[in-house]
Amino acid sequence: MSSVVATTAVRGRFLDIQNTVAQAREIHDQVRYVEDGLLISQNGKIQWFGSWQEGQQHLPVGVEVQHYPEQLIVPGFIDTHIHFPQTEMVGAYGEQLLEWLNTYTFPTELQFSDKAYADQIAQFFVQELLKNGTTTALVFCTVHTESVDALFEAAGQHQMRLIAGKVMMDRHAPEGLCDTPDSAYADSKALIEKWHGKGRNLYAITPRFAPTSTPEQLAKAGQLKAEYPDVYVHTHLSENKNEIAWVKDLFPEQQGYLDVYHHFGLTGSHSVFAHCVHLEDAEWDCMHQTDSAIAFCPTSNLFLGSGLFPLNKTWEKQVKVGLGTDIGAGTSFNQLQTLNEAYKVQQLQGDKLSAFESLYHATLGGAKALSLDDKLGNFNLGKEADFVVLDLKATALQALRQQRAKGIEDALFALMTMGDDRNIHATYIFGQKAYVQN
Ligand code: GUN
Ligand code: ZN
Repeated sequence: MSSVVATTAVRGRFLDIQNTVAQAREIHDQVRYVEDGLLISQNGKIQWFGSWQEGQQHLPVGVEVQHYPEQLIVPGFIDTHIHFPQTEMVGAYGEQLLEWLNTYTFPTELQFSDKAYADQIAQFFVQELLKNGTTTALVFCTVHTESVDALFEAAGQHQMRLIAGKVMMDRHAPEGLCDTPDSAYADSKALIEKWHGKGRNLYAITPRFAPTSTPEQLAKAGQLKAEYPDVYVHTHLSENKNEIAWVKDLFPEQQGYLDVYHHFGLTGSHSVFAHCVHLEDAEWDCMHQTDSAIAFCPTSNLFLGSGLFPLNKTWEKQVKVGLGTDIGAGTSFNQLQTLNEAYKVQQLQGDKLSAFESLYHATLGGAKALSLDDKLGNFNLGKEADFVVLDLKATALQALRQQRAKGIEDALFALMTMGDDRNIHATYIFGQKAYVQN
């Protein structure tokens, strides 16, 4: 059998976090900054990483070194919560969650029964991820199976590691967006068989949120999860006060919002709950005990007026957390912009968010939230070679500020405050250059 070995060698300034941590204060000691480094990947995985000086001897003969002397190379950004069908509706005016869903979101999502339309937006969406340095995302599709096929097909063209699933929704939505407990079960099962573990794709069982599923449907979701334990669960939780009151009304027999999901077997190490802005103490305990994860979505929480997420509680309560853009309630695909807003959310609560903690959440911490920290999140040997080449001086103002930066931490913080897609010079997926800014 002949095998083709694809080797990539990249030289430049590298920054990552070497290990996951239990407390924010431990991150500083895990920061790895290699001013003149070399990364060699083979067949998509990191085969060598270290200083250029030491690394040169490991360079296979004939491999061209891609040199980025001016840039900063970090692990690919991980977006732990985003809706691909909402790409076109970013910036929908004037409403909070429940009205926003009815007024803008549901009409938009109705279009995705059309495979050609879903294909078009999926292509745009994947390009937008790449353009923003996002190399892995946990993605909501719509209720239509076509939307899932469209997304995995588009991601597969770049060998992108994506987690996604069909929305399960059988009430409180327009007819064209509703399935039934049985059809949601059968369609999700077929999609799991088709996509989960195929290439780098992974599947997520995706009930939209408790109000749009009957107890019968949530039971079906739980049944599916029991049949496929390594498949993800992805839903919304405790985002908006009216939403929470509605859930308590709809499920009076449950102890609270999270207990609805827990009751139906939907909590666990592969469960990701978007928002969690208003969790009660018992819910924090349940999140910890079940090893469930949170997607913190600052631009969305501010845009929809949902509230201020208490990030420090995730450390205190030992609950996994990643960063989500939540497009289209969120206002940017870009994780630098998302961190810019995360910092302000912390400031409004009298808390700080350091540049290194920010980098952690956007990379290794996000990987941990998705139970993918054995494969993604830093430059450790054997990990998948997804990384971003960042330009620190994409504008005149950024150049002025960066020239005065006091070391790498200050430079990174300024980048996170001012940066956006203009700072993404190139994005590598599985060792291959998948995007370069022109
Ligand atoms: N809760 C239920 N559906 C949605 C959605 O599409 N976006 C957000 N932000 N919250 C939700
Ligand atoms: Zn969402």
